[in-house]
Amino acid sequence: MAEDLTAQVLSVLNNADGTVLTSEAFPDKDFVTVKSAVDKLRSREFLEAKQVDRIELVPTEEGSTYVQHGSPEARVYSVVKERGKVVIKELGALIGDANVAKFGQGNAFKNKWIKKDGDSLVPVADSIQDVTGNQLKEISEAKTLPDSKAVADLKKRKLITERKVVTFEIKKGPNFSMEFVKEQTDLTAEMLADGSWKTAKLKPYNFKAKGAPTPSGALHPLNKVRQEFRDIFFEMGFEEMPTNRYVETGFWNFDALFVPQQHPARDMQDTFFISDPPKADPPREDPPFNKLADLTLSDSPSHKRSNSQVKQSDEYKQYWENTRAVHESGKFGSIGYRYPWSEDESLKLVLRTHTTAISTYMLHKLAKNPRPARYFSIDRVFRNETVDATHLAEFHQVEGVVADWGLTLGGLIGFMEVFFGKMGITDLRFKPAYNPYTEPSMEIFSYHKGLKKWVEIGNSGMFRPEMLEPMGLPKDMRIYGWGLSLERPTMIKYGVSNIRELLGHKVDLNFIETNPAVRLDKD
Ligand code: PHE
Repeated sequence: MAEDLTAQVLSVLNNADGTVLTSEAFPDKDFVTVKSAVDKLRSREFLEAKQVDRIELVPTEEGSTYVQHGSPEARVYSVVKERGKVVIKELGALIGDANVAKFGQGNAFKNKWIKKDGDSLVPVADSIQDVTGNQLKEISEAKTLPDSKAVADLKKRKLITERKVVTFEIKKGPNFSMEFVKEQTDLTAEMLADGSWKTAKLKPYNFKAKGAPTPSGALHPLNKVRQEFRDIFFEMGFEEMPTNRYVETGFWNFDALFVPQQHPARDMQDTFFISDPPKADPPREDPPFNKLADLTLSDSPSHKRSNSQVKQSDEYKQYWENTRAVHESGKFGSIGYRYPWSEDESLKLVLRTHTTAISTYMLHKLAKNPRPARYFSIDRVFRNETVDATHLAEFHQVEGVVADWGLTLGGLIGFMEVFFGKMGITDLRFKPAYNPYTEPSMEIFSYHKGLKKWVEIGNSGMFRPEMLEPMGLPKDMRIYGWGLSLERPTMIKYGVSNIRELLGHKVDLNFIETNPAVRLDKD
């Protein structure tokens, strides 16, 4: 705790008439200590105080040696004068500093204090004034020098520097008294009982004080930005999809999306596969709610559990076979990929690599009663990536799909402009891209004013008939979709350049607690 100077300040003021500069009255006390005493006395009007900032001059390290020993030229002169004649080569040793000897000689010549005599130096002046040395001495005592040209000169020679000093000019206030009684902060039962309350000095309430911060929870920035996205989707008439399945089958994550089984995305390097249990049952109707209890892992290992309770419906069988056919030999007007499609590959369990797995599941449900629909989801996905400043093995995707009759690519572009426009992102460009499940596909770019370049902000496309028709969706129905990461806009909005500061074990909780809410359409 800082030392209490209150009594000393009062006594200094008592002895002074007029103003006192605290830095002079308490030269060895640090500013914080002085300030706290001044503030305390000022708040009760024991004194009046005005903060003054002053510039002080201080000799540098080199300047200080001049203060102590005189300037180099004066030192050279005094050695030469004392001895009458000094061999130049021996000057350094006589002074004890080769640099001082060399530099001092030059200046002493210039000042015409000494001259050369063969290989020696002899005095010229009878006596000298060490101007530089004296100026520095004055500065080291008075902290200032009236001659501004000399000050500029010494600064240029790096012999002095400036230092800002904050100090208070104080004088007695209306309540000045030598006795600083500590004010009572509580009216106690004892004070009432013994009558001391009558004379006690009570501390007035400080209505300007900020209250102690209340401990509270805080929303993660990703949650705040997610809410912004949800609001945009709801405003545009979208329904939120259930995203609670982190584990999906290869079927929902890939095959149903017409991603061939040899596709590099299905490689171990890109996808996390589940080892226990490694395989799921073929896709089927969700079990009725009361059956779920019978199917929990604790009852029986799920990869061994019997599938007899929930039969694969004809509809699912049809979907499963359609998917096989569209991959293996082609169907619905498509020639397919023409490779032997493996059920085992399709039943492998994976951590979902995109939320398009959920969109697919929802679209196949829509096929039972085809109608215009708008769905969205915002949740976590997993990719087996090398972690660096902009990539994590898990992140969040924002995804939307729109189903209707008569949708066109132009409509998708227009829709993207409205959607991103609601976030304040206006100049969009579209670049042809490739996804196994959309045709055409487009990457979406926007101009980043800070980075001064076009950055990719999303991926989109019209879903392929090879994906939609096996589900039983009508041939003339069109569905488009798009996806983007939640992290990218969050990082831009919160000025985070390393994704690890946003998500994962390195996140600073203080950062989470102190960040304000954001509005996507405001900069
Ligand atoms: N699944 C795509 C991705 O992971 C996004 C996307 C969704 C693209 C829907 C087209 C249609 O980037």
